[in-house]
Amino acid sequence: MSRLVVVSNRVAMPGENRAGGLAVGLLAALRERGGLWFGWNGRITRDAGGRIEEQSDGDIRYVTMELNRRDYDAYYNGFSNRTLWPLLHFRLDLVDYDRATREGYRRVNALFADRLAPLLREDDTVWIHDYHLIPLAALLRERGVGCRMGFFLHVPMPSADILQALPDHARLFQSLYAYDLVGFQTVRDVERFLAYARLFGGGRPLGDGLLEAPGGRRLRAGAFPISIDTALIASQARAAMSKPALRDLRESLTRRQLAIGVDRLDYSKGLPERFHGFERYLERHPDQKGSLTFLQIAPVSRGEVAEYQSLRNQLEQIAGHINGAHAAPDWTPLRYVNRNFAHSTLTGFYRMARVGLVTPLRDGMNLVAKEYVAAQDPDDPGVLLLSLFAGAADELQQALLVNPYDLDGVADAIATAAAMPRAQRIERWRAMMDVLRENDINAWRRRYLDALDAV
Ligand code: G6P
Repeated sequence: MSRLVVVSNRVAMPGENRAGGLAVGLLAALRERGGLWFGWNGRITRDAGGRIEEQSDGDIRYVTMELNRRDYDAYYNGFSNRTLWPLLHFRLDLVDYDRATREGYRRVNALFADRLAPLLREDDTVWIHDYHLIPLAALLRERGVGCRMGFFLHVPMPSADILQALPDHARLFQSLYAYDLVGFQTVRDVERFLAYARLFGGGRPLGDGLLEAPGGRRLRAGAFPISIDTALIASQARAAMSKPALRDLRESLTRRQLAIGVDRLDYSKGLPERFHGFERYLERHPDQKGSLTFLQIAPVSRGEVAEYQSLRNQLEQIAGHINGAHAAPDWTPLRYVNRNFAHSTLTGFYRMARVGLVTPLRDGMNLVAKEYVAAQDPDDPGVLLLSLFAGAADELQQALLVNPYDLDGVADAIATAAAMPRAQRIERWRAMMDVLRENDINAWRRRYLDALDAV
């Protein structure tokens, strides 16, 4: 088996408490095959940047690179998160396009290629992740790298008409043709990519995910829905119940039921709509009023980007309004918390919650939805409310599927979830758990890497 080289903007360094699904899955793959993880080291320097540092952990080498302020602003805060992120989440209204940040993005991708190319061997398998690094394979090929290279897009692939709105879209998206395998979260994402390739990208879909690029090069596109370490989450959640944080939360609820949401503070997550949906629930279901407390955990994310700052202000205002209008002297309906928690503690929170609220306006997959299910008590599971616009809805059909824009629908689904009889909860949970046991994070990376090896 050839050596695996993983490339992503963020790298989960050894010893870091990032039990996030992706890190777990990739580390397992790197351990199996031996390999290298390459990416940004999380630091911004005052000087020119581009210095790399290296450390090892067993058979895994970590090589990371620092960025200077100008590059970081253009590449990360700018083109990645103010142009591509909204574009790929169907939010043309939020796209901020600027040639200078576009060039900064290319410059940083070229820097990644310059530093990575000398570390590669001809028989390596290179696996590049997410929208920060779309042109990387093309830039590596320009530097003479001939090995097998795959890409996985963690976020949605929008329709061709949305992609077309990006000035110079062809230069960026045609650079995907330099990969051997381009992986997406769902079948719909693959279809939209192939439609784009046909309509605006000069490509020729040949059926079964095979695509011929202009000039005759062939590559494959496929759906590989990412997942979680299902068994680990289940056992973490069980163990977490005895933690002090869980005991405190249970006591504070004074026998009220808990609804929970856990999201990065991001406009794609539909948090204002979710808050309004919860408010509508309080108004439409006065019989349930006071029986369900909603805890929203939303750690601040990408705080240097203006749209994220204004979202934070907006949420503070809505949360204040809801509590002002509906709280009682002994009850706060909405608890809104910006801090982050250890992953294992979160799994305990999930297990304690009768209702899980996952209502993004668009999401590539959404692993919180999957973790919420895996964390439940098999004898008394909670109910997942899941947006139709999360990739996870394809697999988790037994959730209460909602349209996050339909506030009345969300409100009624919360009421249904809160009152759902145990037998029905168990039946729905079992069906979803079967899916998650079958497609866990290890199955995901094996399927992807097998497909890449087969190209
Ligand atoms: C999404 C993206 C990831 C990204 C993560 C956190 O899940 O798909 O690539 O790492 O958000 O965002 P951040 O900007 O903090 O890396």
